[in-house]
Amino acid sequence: MKILLLGSGGREHALAWKIAQSPLCSELVIAPGNAGTAQCGTNINLSDSDIDGVKKYVLDNQIDMIVVGPEQALVNGIYDAIKNDPQCADKIVIGPSKAGAQLEGSKSYSKTFMQEFNIPTAAYRSFNKNELNNAIAFLDTLQPPYVLKADGLATGKGVIITSVKNEAINELNLMLGGEKFGEAGEHVVIEEFLSGIELSVFVLTDGKDYVLLPSAKDYKRIGEGDTGLNTGGMGSISPVPFADTEFMEKVKKRIIEPTLHGIQVRNLNYHGFIFFGLINVKGNPYVIEYNVRMGDPETESVMPRIESDLVELFLHVDKETVKDARISISPKTATSVMLVSGGYPQKYPKGKIITGIDNIEDGIVFHAGTKIDEQGHLVTNGGRVLTTTTLGNSIEEALSISNRNAERIQFEGKYYRHDIGKDLL
Ligand code: AMP
Ligand code: GLY
Repeated sequence: MKILLLGSGGREHALAWKIAQSPLCSELVIAPGNAGTAQCGTNINLSDSDIDGVKKYVLDNQIDMIVVGPEQALVNGIYDAIKNDPQCADKIVIGPSKAGAQLEGSKSYSKTFMQEFNIPTAAYRSFNKNELNNAIAFLDTLQPPYVLKADGLATGKGVIITSVKNEAINELNLMLGGEKFGEAGEHVVIEEFLSGIELSVFVLTDGKDYVLLPSAKDYKRIGEGDTGLNTGGMGSISPVPFADTEFMEKVKKRIIEPTLHGIQVRNLNYHGFIFFGLINVKGNPYVIEYNVRMGDPETESVMPRIESDLVELFLHVDKETVKDARISISPKTATSVMLVSGGYPQKYPKGKIITGIDNIEDGIVFHAGTKIDEQGHLVTNGGRVLTTTTLGNSIEEALSISNRNAERIQFEGKYYRHDIGKDLL
């Protein structure tokens, strides 16, 4: 099978690494990819959000399966664009339809969905740009901290949490006025603050049944001790020790199964991943958000633990036979430490030469923002540059190798958190 993978981050390198191991994959092409994905297949110069370009490439090159890494193309309807075109309706697409992608694409859609199907989530109300006064009145009924969310996609930056009411009101003004987050902010969800530890749970589904993938914990803040600005994610650990059998039973019964029931009731065509961003509030799981893709950097720790053939699982998704699928997961612990460019998540330079990858032992390097420059050097090409991932017999063992390998890789301005996973020891 010829497989086209869309995306260019660490998640896509981990997916490419796993897909390329499948005997069912005869050729892997990544659009646009990075220097790491180029080791697993062939990168092509095509944007992952260029739906027409992807369709043309698929037809011109007899691609059999398209695996969509990031959310933008899904929210823009890449599944429908391919499946509704008679020329390519037989192609396999791993990713939900445009209607299904609303679970991530619109916060107010996902909140009403959770409310309708009794899925535990923070209490909320949503407001449009003509409802500023109502929104302020609703803030008066809440205890701080206040949680404000832009309705649309805002690359993970659309959430504001503040304990200062005036600041919340200012932010509301900016969001509803379209000055912050553009159109994505013209509808705002205001919700109750939930206090607990977050974790990421993933399933692969055909819209009816699901296989549970390994769970993972992400580290979102730039600074050690979870301080400073939010980032795309500074590291990940899988499995999550507190997500034990009892907790995961609650996740299945209260969250995953009602979500799949809702997907069927609403007739959402859903062939892909669901990422449940959860928070553990005193032993009870609540949904913070749905994503319609895998997480990054969670995927870098999740893929090494999957022993089954991922492409075979994708075929079950396509044929809607996930109820017959079995997944085998390694009991080992995977840890990923993210190396980032100095300055990230604010302004940072690109093009810094990366050395030392050949010196790493017992681990995997998943590339995120990297490329090969015109002189043939491996250089940085983004804020998040690469992960040092390890599969070990314990968190301690895996972390000590991930951290040692993070030390051995060099580029000017390199930064990483030395405390990834330490809260779980
Ligand atoms: P989201 O984009 O919805 O995932 O939100 C980004 C981050 O904001 C989450 O990962 C949480 O850390 C935090 N967050 C969002 N909603 C809440 C909430 N209701 N209570 C507490 N923290 C939240
Ligand atoms: N690591 C969080 C995300 O992928 O959204």
